[in-house]
Amino acid sequence: MGDFFSEKIVTGEENKGIERADEYEKVIKVAVENQPGIKLERSQFFRYPNDMNTIASFVEERIQTGEKINLLEIGVGNMEELSSYLAAIKKVADKYGRNLKDLVNTELVELRAKGSVIPNFGLGKVMGVFINSDPELSKKAPPVKPPEDYKTSFYLDEDEGVNKFAPEIQAYIEGLVSDDTKAHFGRSIEDHLAIGQGQSDVVACNNVLQYLGGMGHTYQNPFNKGPEGADLTKFKKVVRDIAKMVKEGGLLIMHVDVKGGDRKGRGAENVLESIEGFTSAFDKVGPGIYRRKVGITQDVL
Ligand SMILES: C[S@@+](CC[C@H](N)C(=O)[O-])C[C@H]1O[C@@H](n2cnc3c(N)ncnc32)[C@H](O)[C@@H]1O
Repeated sequence: MGDFFSEKIVTGEENKGIERADEYEKVIKVAVENQPGIKLERSQFFRYPNDMNTIASFVEERIQTGEKINLLEIGVGNMEELSSYLAAIKKVADKYGRNLKDLVNTELVELRAKGSVIPNFGLGKVMGVFINSDPELSKKAPPVKPPEDYKTSFYLDEDEGVNKFAPEIQAYIEGLVSDDTKAHFGRSIEDHLAIGQGQSDVVACNNVLQYLGGMGHTYQNPFNKGPEGADLTKFKKVVRDIAKMVKEGGLLIMHVDVKGGDRKGRGAENVLESIEGFTSAFDKVGPGIYRRKVGITQDVL
């Protein structure tokens, strides 16, 4: 990486104010502003802090009915996003004296092979959030703290000096990863859809749009200016089919951070809202989050 990283980010000069996992956003903003054109697509914990509250409220609403929610995550990185969602759900579980696994059933679809996805359970250090290039510096650095109000979802690993996701969350994810009926590794969402799929209460598909429907990694703003020769029909169909996987009353979460999108999720919003019938079938409940209306037939999409 360029000098900016080695001089400012790694030494902590620019990110010394970043102490909590939900503040990574600030580091990225600084990095992107100082090094235009840089691609930072690494998955982060609590990437969209607002999503956590929406998911927690959704689970809390559902807990009253006694039904478990089905969550589908498309494109998992190294589980940073799923761990963050589970940390939010655990808050609800704790409040009602329940276990995570009794509240949420998760499935995942991930293009990469099983062995190449290494669940990441540590929040890291205040310095070297992006690159731990200097192990000595890193050893001395303080641990990144969990977001406020998430205390029961984390513990401090004294040996490594980092805050980690609670054993219940780690065990949940490890159980999921080893269950081939739920964890579909080595499978694209396109292939998953082609097999014919049911619906889920929550479908999360973040920072995956840029890879879909043959857009390659050159995604700009697919509906306006996809890469030359891009097949937008194919792209639109995949996005529409993902939206169709959301049950009535369920949530669709879609953000995209690459050029053409923005960190408030509007890249994905532009794409979704351009799909015919989408706004008839979904209400927007927050940046990059939609709730499927009840009583609207599948045909509008
Ligand atoms: C940039 S990461 C985003 C991870 C996470 N959702 C987040 O926002 O932090 C994109 C992930 O999607 C996966 N992926 C890319 N194309 C895919 C496809 N067609 N179907 C399923 N997963 C895909 C990649 O392997 C990677 O794990």
